[in-house]
Amino acid sequence: MHHFNYAGGRLQCEGVDLGRIADEVGTPVYVYSNATLQRHARVIAEAFSGQKVLIAYSVKANGNLAVLATLAAEGCGADVVSGGEMQRAMKAGIPASRIVFSGVGKTAAEMKLALEAGIHQFNVESAGELRLLSKVASDLGSAAPIALRVNPDVAAGGHPNISTGKSGDKFGVPWGEAETLYAEAGKLPGIKVVGVDVHIGSQIGELGPMRAAFEKVVGLALRLREQGHDIARIDVGGGLGIPYRETDAPAAPSAYAAMISDVTAGHGFEVILEPGRVIAGNAGVLLTTALYEKQAPDRTFLIIDAGMNDLIRPALYGAHHDIRPLAEPALGTAEKTYDVVGPICESTDKFATARNLPEVAPGDRLAFMSAGAYGAVLSSAYNARPLVPEVLVSGDHYSVVRRRPDFDEMTMLEEVPDWIKAKA
Ligand code: LLP
Repeated sequence: MHHFNYAGGRLQCEGVDLGRIADEVGTPVYVYSNATLQRHARVIAEAFSGQKVLIAYSVKANGNLAVLATLAAEGCGADVVSGGEMQRAMKAGIPASRIVFSGVGKTAAEMKLALEAGIHQFNVESAGELRLLSKVASDLGSAAPIALRVNPDVAAGGHPNISTGKSGDKFGVPWGEAETLYAEAGKLPGIKVVGVDVHIGSQIGELGPMRAAFEKVVGLALRLREQGHDIARIDVGGGLGIPYRETDAPAAPSAYAAMISDVTAGHGFEVILEPGRVIAGNAGVLLTTALYEKQAPDRTFLIIDAGMNDLIRPALYGAHHDIRPLAEPALGTAEKTYDVVGPICESTDKFATARNLPEVAPGDRLAFMSAGAYGAVLSSAYNARPLVPEVLVSGDHYSVVRRRPDFDEMTMLEEVPDWIKAKA
């Protein structure tokens, strides 16, 4: 459920007219709903009454400081994959003791930063990483709390590019090698084994593959306990899908959380979840303005002011985002079929092919729905376009939580060396 609805013929975010934000901040612009973020965090937490749970929001989905601060106030922790994400989470008020560090390529410098901060857990993905982490922690006179991310060889995920739990994916420790690596971890001086971790993919709509993976992982955790490891935590990763189309019906967050609670209950585990998309996805939209209609022999292009640099999911994954006009179309408004494209000089700068929309005129404003996750975080300044700004709405007011940079700010890290200037 989200808080983007038509009222009085205008698309609103909570109590704010999105057209007002488009006018005042300019387009393209991302708009997030505070109430939607809060609701998603609460729905998941509520399923775990009586069980120890850490909702480690996956910062990669949307790392804006104001979004993180909203979730920090809900008691969320953070799942991070870089020193930068860790610092973001801490700057937004998420304590290190609620941060887990995932990712296949942690550097020694990042490990040191995280150990010094005192993070909750490292999710270790390879033998090489385990050994380096032991060394870095030993040098600091500490022991790193770790879970091994195991690869359960379960296929799931909406797109091959975001499936991570099959053997052959680069993620995790192969299932058959996990127990041997745990045995080694148990002996390493700078390592303290605390749990088992899994993450099988993203935009997963059905609970079946996840349940199968989590049951395997709980079985492994219990075997590891028998082998003498102090397995106190199960980290189930993220991955629950959201509806991108009105006809999509992924499992509800409450059912997902209840399933996890069911699979893990009764063994005294602390459960860690790393939800990203399910928290932020439907909490955000990208607003854009129609610039031109261009007629080709076999199609009509609708050229808009947002580009693939602002929202790359359609270009990268062929992802679908619903497009809604900010002015609610009257009943019976004629529809037209468009290829919706951006201004970037790439053929992949296309948001939709042969999409039926209520007829659009230049200057009309549109919203890409479900753009709160993997939207702004994946944006770039390609074609020297300023990074897209972000706005957070709460009730009847809004704040610009990342403003659009001006030209000087866009170029301020660059320098033309004197030896070039001398030749000029
Ligand atoms: N934990 C780990 C270890 C992950 O790799 C991910 C996502 C998550 C948690 C959060 O997954 P979520 O709950 O958001 O599904 N850019 C792609 C999605 C990439 C997902 C990467 N890993 C997209 O736009 O669909």
